[in-house]
Amino acid sequence: MTDSKSNTMWGGRFAAGPDAIMEAINASIGFDKRMAKQDIEGSRAHAAMLAAQGIVTDNDAKAIREGLLTVLSEIDSGAFEFKPALEDIHMNVEARLKDIIGEPAGRLHTARSRNDQVATDFKLWVREQIDAAAQGITALQQAFLAQAEAGADWVMPGFTHLQTAQPVTWGHHMLAYVEMLGRDASRFADARARMNESPLGAAALAGTSFNIDRDATAQALGFDRPAANSLDAVSDRDFALDFLSAAAICAMHLSRFAEELVIWSSAQFRFVTLSDRFSTGSSIMPQKKNPDAAELIRAKVARIMGANVALMMVMKGLPLTYSKDMQEDKEQVFDAADNLMLALAAMTGMVSDMTANRDALEQAAASGFSTATDLADWLVRSLDMPFRDAHHVTGSLVKVAEDKGCDLPDLSLAEMQSVHGAITADVFDVLGVQNSVRSRISYGGTAPDNVRAQIGRWKERLA
Ligand code: ARG
Repeated sequence: MTDSKSNTMWGGRFAAGPDAIMEAINASIGFDKRMAKQDIEGSRAHAAMLAAQGIVTDNDAKAIREGLLTVLSEIDSGAFEFKPALEDIHMNVEARLKDIIGEPAGRLHTARSRNDQVATDFKLWVREQIDAAAQGITALQQAFLAQAEAGADWVMPGFTHLQTAQPVTWGHHMLAYVEMLGRDASRFADARARMNESPLGAAALAGTSFNIDRDATAQALGFDRPAANSLDAVSDRDFALDFLSAAAICAMHLSRFAEELVIWSSAQFRFVTLSDRFSTGSSIMPQKKNPDAAELIRAKVARIMGANVALMMVMKGLPLTYSKDMQEDKEQVFDAADNLMLALAAMTGMVSDMTANRDALEQAAASGFSTATDLADWLVRSLDMPFRDAHHVTGSLVKVAEDKGCDLPDLSLAEMQSVHGAITADVFDVLGVQNSVRSRISYGGTAPDNVRAQIGRWKERLA
């Protein structure tokens, strides 16, 4: 006899229901209810296929497909009661379907298992997130592009080691992030293309003896084809790892710009002013305007990378095929996806709203001997000096300026000539930051004309 509390889905060989702690560790409904829509979509495609193949009657398939829509509307309206005793979203939906349509509900699980079902649902969920990430990335690229366009020729210091290196343009700096985000988008696109094979019909692990049509369900669910190996289909979670690693790299890029915003918005730099909408105040220091959103974005990569590592650790060493360990995949991915989308949206808002302080940028660009390389290049070009010698002469000139407490353009011609007699007044032309950036016309260089050309290319690409 079956205990009345034993599970209705497999109660046949059980005499008693689970211990409360067993139920607590086993149930995933608390989080996998987020896949309700995908679960119902997958089941509706499966039911239609079963009918088309003559495995269930058209009437039963119709009842199942309509009943599932009723279940979905109950879930959407909040009326649905999720039951931990029914473990997960798959069994919660099926049990409710049985309440609504009765006997035909029991035919839905023909030629299917929760193993191919969960792999299908989760893939559909991750695929949607990839599409959302792609949209979020495009929006952020547009925001960077607008900044680049406004300040294509504004001059700012370029840094290496966070030490002033050479003048660059604001537009060029903004476009660097457009490039990074472009690669992020292509990583997501790669992941999407690779994952887009349907697990449905792999059944528990070995396939099924029913005459199913996996091409039909694959097509109905927008997959390119059915996955070719049933063992792999139910145990593959590398599609989720692909997503997480693309997400982690994207979050790392956001973190780098977040760090720049934290530095740039400080009173010491004043390169940018963040909008009030994306800043916070201090409860004690009235003058403070803090870049909290940037700091939080800077930190998001930690949990996203953490999710990537966690799922990798869950999967390592699992023998084929499905093991319940794999139920631990979802929360990591849900959390990572939520936080990536939030970080993308917050960064888009900050970038759109921020104001670059053109004067502060230009002033900073002109300090720190930023045109020393231009001076060395001038010596090479005008005096035919080997670059190594020019580097040395320029170093001596920097030393003279440093001792005098001024910058290179402030030295007199006589002071220059005291270091190298052949230097002429023409040298002063290359010491200005505007001339410096205008001269960097090599492909990929910082010259405003290059920047404008790249903006044009990106606008076309994103249109
Ligand atoms: N809730 C399960 C999960 O998320 C569904 C698959 C259960 N399969 C099984 N053989 N127990 O992984």
